[in-house]
Amino acid sequence: MSNSDKYPVLMRLMHWTVGLLILGIIAAGWYMVGLEDNVSYKYDIYHWHKSFGVLVIFLVFARLVIRWASQIPKLPDSMPTYQKKLGTLVHWLLYLFMFLVPVSGYMMSDAAGRDVPLFNLVMPSFLEKNPELAGRLHDIHVIIPYVLLGIVVLHILATIKHRYFDKPEHDVLHRML
Ligand code: HEM
Ligand code: HEM
Repeated sequence: MSNSDKYPVLMRLMHWTVGLLILGIIAAGWYMVGLEDNVSYKYDIYHWHKSFGVLVIFLVFARLVIRWASQIPKLPDSMPTYQKKLGTLVHWLLYLFMFLVPVSGYMMSDAAGRDVPLFNLVMPSFLEKNPELAGRLHDIHVIIPYVLLGIVVLHILATIKHRYFDKPEHDVLHRML
């Protein structure tokens, strides 16, 4: 397998770092909201959830810049056009949600009048305190991470299909490893 049909190493590194980070943040979010208020570490998890979530905003931005500057390997000519188009659509949906999910969290906390942390730093505030807006952003933020998770599941199923139930030359996983 030649190296030229792989994603550049920085893109591969970014894919697995940001991907695992997002899955971990979803798991932490799901876990922390289920904890009773008297659990001593509940709001420590909120702090780490928010900090890593803000970090994702920067990483997704960096990832898009790296992508723009990179040579993306061409998909095999024998792959049907509809599969190539579907793959591209799903990838851009992933990018959209990787951005909207943390930004909705940031704006929700900001509109609720809470500090938005980035580990031991405090991020700038862009919104006036507005409990009604915070409530609407909350409604969004507790749903769209699970929409993102659903798209990730489709994305993983497509990878498995191409690797195990397709022509060997249609395997795309090696491009990302
Ligand atoms: C990639 C980034 C992020 C992901 C994947 C994510 C995902 C989630 C998930 C799955 C939940 C649980 C929803 C539920 O089951 O009710 C949640 C809750 C929450 N997230 Fe995020 N989040 C991210 C970023 C952020 C950021 C940047 C902030 C704020 C700065 C934030 C603040 C919160 C808060 C405060 C809750 C709890 C809401 C409640 O108590 O009902 N999140 N998040
Ligand atoms: C076990 C988990 C995962 C596997 C096996 C996997 C596999 C892959 C593979 C093989 C590609 C390259 C597709 C191609 O060659 O065209 C890819 C691309 C991509 N993956 Fe994943 N992935 C996983 C998790 C995730 C997660 C969690 C996210 C984000 C939340 C994600 C976002 C993306 C994006 C945005 C691309 C497009 C890359 C680009 O061309 O810019 N992946 N993934």
